[in-house]
Amino acid sequence: MHVVMFDGMSDLWKKKFETEFEGQLKFSDKDEILRKLASDYTEDLVFMPGLVVEPANSQEVQKVLRWAHANEVPVTPAGAMTGLSGGALPVAGGISLSTRRLNRIVHIDECNHQVVVEPGVIVQELQEAVQSFGLYYAVDPASRGSCTIGGNLAENSGGPRAVKYGVTKDWVLNLEVVMMDGSIIETGANTLKNSTGYNLTALMVGSEGTLGVITRATLKLLPWPRHTALILAPFTDANSACRAVSKIFQQGNQPSALEFMERSAIELAADFAGVTPPAMDVTTQAHLLIEVDGFDPSEMMPQLERIYAALKVCGAGEPLLAEDEAAKNQLWKLRRVVGEAVKAASIYKEEDTVVPRGTLPELLETVKAIGSKYGFESICYGHAGDGNLHVNILKRGVSETAWEHQLPLAIRSIFEKVIELGGTISGEHGIGWVQRPYIDLAFSPTELQLQQAIKAQFDPKGLLNPGKIWPMEVS
Ligand code: LAC
Ligand code: ZN
Repeated sequence: MHVVMFDGMSDLWKKKFETEFEGQLKFSDKDEILRKLASDYTEDLVFMPGLVVEPANSQEVQKVLRWAHANEVPVTPAGAMTGLSGGALPVAGGISLSTRRLNRIVHIDECNHQVVVEPGVIVQELQEAVQSFGLYYAVDPASRGSCTIGGNLAENSGGPRAVKYGVTKDWVLNLEVVMMDGSIIETGANTLKNSTGYNLTALMVGSEGTLGVITRATLKLLPWPRHTALILAPFTDANSACRAVSKIFQQGNQPSALEFMERSAIELAADFAGVTPPAMDVTTQAHLLIEVDGFDPSEMMPQLERIYAALKVCGAGEPLLAEDEAAKNQLWKLRRVVGEAVKAASIYKEEDTVVPRGTLPELLETVKAIGSKYGFESICYGHAGDGNLHVNILKRGVSETAWEHQLPLAIRSIFEKVIELGGTISGEHGIGWVQRPYIDLAFSPTELQLQQAIKAQFDPKGLLNPGKIWPMEVS
């Protein structure tokens, strides 16, 4: 890989950019603007960009990348900064390329059930816009009220509904991408089928802004299943809750969400959101939050009955059925704010583990055993139906030395178990900046070489979102 020497302390490149694009592009180096893109939701990390550029269309993105390529200046694409692996942090300085102004829903195609969007569109706004046509965009990350489609595409985001509907990559038909040298490509076609050439659409989704800048996406839509039923099932031990997950599927059910929360997660979330938590027995240690959806309420009853039976067999206490929309919203709010609540409680590290769901009980047991061995507290929650457990390790009560030197060993042990169980080290948050030290666990040397050859093909100078996924290319 070509290594670019970039002097982040020098302002020469910035002056050159300003002279060239003054009056043509929107950019700023004001501290308050730089600061907005200097941190995301990952730990307490802060990396200041040198300049924030806010292009308004693909041609402006093209100008920025072409210039940066010629002048060997790093570019980090940035959305709403809600990421959890540091994927949009400008770790090498240079330009943060904000998608804030690329925020149009270009076309809702009712006839073909497709939507064309720009990357800066907020996910919830997209969901609501298509719902007004009776259509459904199924990907629903916890941060949907603030995260952008571009960020979701970059990290291949999932969220609670992935268990039935899949993750971001499953809904993308075609992308317009500006390459680092300024070329503009389309990765596919706006068709439901495509057997033409390599699947560049799939390659781009989840590439964390390291291969190109997505400026437009054509996404698939579904008819909107308007009806949902939501239950919260308590368990006196967390492992029984994890065991119940497979049982629910084995009995022929397809819930639209199957979430796991340790007691501490619900308590923190309730506190953070200022919401009264559901009544919990003192013995309750964990909950499953289970949703089924459909076009007609009568479709959902037989499924709910089977789920109740599976829960009972697995030792759940009496499930709470949300009675109306307000009660459902309250439960979903509790679930959605867990991440923010943990962040507000303590500095923490979040591991986005994912395993085949049948092995979830073993993963949880291992996480707790490693926690006891190394003396750290963890709050676990996540998308149990996908085998995707968010392991949040709290810094409170841990010494600086242990945090710095012992914790990486503990995390490595957790990831080794994840791999042994047939899983991998990130389900939906990406590798970004913080999980790079563990990438060797995910790939053999040959696989790693192949992955890096792809990066080099797309970005030979290593300027696009440097320092992410792979070892740092820019020094
Ligand atoms: C969630 C985010 C953290 O599941 O992925 O809440
Ligand atoms: Zn999640």
